[in-house]
Amino acid sequence: MVSLWFSICMAFRSSHGDQPISTNIIQRFESSGHNQTQESSAKALKKVFLSNRSITCNDGSQAGFYLRRSHSSTKWIIFLEGGWYCYDAHSCRNRWLKQRHYMTSSKWPETRDVGGILSPNPKENPFWFNANHVFIPYCTSDSWSGTKPPSPRDMFSFMGSFVIRQVIRDVIPLGLENSTDLLLTGSSAGGTGVMLNLDYVKELLHDELELTQINVRGVTDSGWFLDRTPYAPTTKPAVEAIRKGMEMWRGKVPRRCREEYSNEPWRCYFGYRLYPTLKSELFVVQWLFDEAQMDVDNVGAPVTKQQWDYIHKMGDSLRHSFENVSAVFAPSCISHSMLTKRDWQTVKIDDVSVGEAIHCWELKTARRRSKRLKNGAKRKRNYSFNGDGVAKAKRKRRNRKIQKNKIRPRKHKVSRSVHQKPRRSRKRRCVHRRLERCSWPQCNHSCPRLHNPFTGEEMDFIELLKSFGLDMNSVADALGIDLQTLNNMDHADLLNLLTQQTS
Ligand SMILES: *[C@@H]1O[C@H](CO)[C@@H](O)[C@H](O)[C@H]1NC(C)=O
Ligand SMILES: *[C@@H]1O[C@H](CO)[C@@H](O)[C@H](O)[C@H]1NC(C)=O
Ligand SMILES: *[C@@H]1O[C@H](CO)[C@@H](O)[C@H](O)[C@H]1NC(C)=O
Ligand SMILES: *[C@@H]1O[C@H](CO)[C@@H](O)[C@H](O)[C@H]1NC(C)=O
Ligand SMILES: *[C@@H]1O[C@H](CO)[C@@H](O)[C@H](O)[C@H]1NC(C)=O
Ligand SMILES: *[C@@H]1O[C@H](CO)[C@@H](O)[C@H](O)[C@H]1NC(C)=O
Repeated sequence: MVSLWFSICMAFRSSHGDQPISTNIIQRFESSGHNQTQESSAKALKKVFLSNRSITCNDGSQAGFYLRRSHSSTKWIIFLEGGWYCYDAHSCRNRWLKQRHYMTSSKWPETRDVGGILSPNPKENPFWFNANHVFIPYCTSDSWSGTKPPSPRDMFSFMGSFVIRQVIRDVIPLGLENSTDLLLTGSSAGGTGVMLNLDYVKELLHDELELTQINVRGVTDSGWFLDRTPYAPTTKPAVEAIRKGMEMWRGKVPRRCREEYSNEPWRCYFGYRLYPTLKSELFVVQWLFDEAQMDVDNVGAPVTKQQWDYIHKMGDSLRHSFENVSAVFAPSCISHSMLTKRDWQTVKIDDVSVGEAIHCWELKTARRRSKRLKNGAKRKRNYSFNGDGVAKAKRKRRNRKIQKNKIRPRKHKVSRSVHQKPRRSRKRRCVHRRLERCSWPQCNHSCPRLHNPFTGEEMDFIELLKSFGLDMNSVADALGIDLQTLNNMDHADLLNLLTQQTS
């Protein structure tokens, strides 16, 4: 878990230039401590270049993907890697100098080993270890939206959107053709890429290729950003960068969103604006205190009352932006990206891990879909003939809606036998909206452990803040108590106090 402090360092570092929050580096840190047995290397994801050579990374090298086939499964997971973006000549040149691996395939290894939802290990990945896994490295720096081919005038091409389409086409003869489910997922910029491409992927499979039996769904991780006013002036305000970037990438956003924001189509890169226009089913995974959001907001380590309040409000704004989202998992932690971390199962909300939450959503939406396909129309007619039926159905729907928004404490762990449970209890457990209630970062104990950046030792939140130069005097001032009281205060009490600050 060296990685966590690393990413926290990234977040708290005063942000200038184009320091990304890089899931790639996190993975490398984590896999270095991982025992690579012969078995796991036989199961590694293997490199495949795209069949269409004119679809390239930024530098003109061939784009591609990593594949692990599973002949016993009809499920496919396609994962989009994250790693920020560049948005003008200057930022792209910088990226080329400092983070070239995000712009070229020239150094791609033959195999990759990715954790979490792409792990072949049933302990690490109980619900999808046996699925067909596709990992697409991010080498287009365009939030997976670009449609700009190379030209002699420009140094780089931006073809992220083409890459995804071509990967889909290329895996069809490798088995996607006969599959039943496709989960398009990704973290960070890859999470944004999921939202931007999901409807197009569904159209490609269902309308263009007529593979309508494939149920296409999306899971976006840590790609749901807010276009809000930064805490302090910053050299890379998200809004300005996206506006410029979209132009440079020739960014493609979903049709209905583009119509909705015809004067400002770049707004469609922001999840809460894009979401209501999406036609496909989407599950949103997002830390309420996302490090990348803190980074673009340029808020830094919370030392002053203004900073505490700003961070607090950021969590509130994120929570509010999920108001109309039907499936969401949002823990109150400071972190960034979740799905490919090896310890992704340890974070829980009301005793449910993100994997369990997504799995139960998958089962339920699959049932709903097959029901709809079978007898949707007939059912509607039945209700209209029977007044009582209409009222009942309405009441039922209303109740369901209310239940959905309510986070219930869970009494039992999800067991393997979900299928055999009586309908009632299954319904009760399968809550698709899990938003942590506490409003202060790290306030609940299932958050990833924080680690001291210098010693690697586990530490609590207050210690962490101290290590970033938190001045206990100003905290005491901000809270209106004296330093001695503050120092003697129980951790839980202190968090409690901080939590009450906004109300
Ligand atoms: C990795 O695991 C294998 C078998 O479980 C063991 O023989 C080997 O010593 C381990 N290697 C390391 C570096 O821990
Ligand atoms: C390859 O991709 C390019 C860019 O999308 C497209 O114009 C071209 O028609 C494709 N070629 C083939 C053979 O599919
Ligand atoms: C899909 O199934 C059909 C019929 O069984 C078979 O002919 C075809 O080869 C399969 N496609 C792939 C990619 O396995
Ligand atoms: C949720 O939907 C309602 C009704 O359409 C709308 O008024 C409200 O602004 C939406 N909330 C968010 C956060 O988008
Ligand atoms: C913290 O987690 C526990 C167990 O998941 C839950 O019962 C409790 O409500 C949570 N507290 C807050 C403030 O969210
Ligand atoms: C519609 O109503 C009829 C008679 O009440 C019933 O037999 C039939 O199963 C219903 N169909 C559906 C799809 O609910």
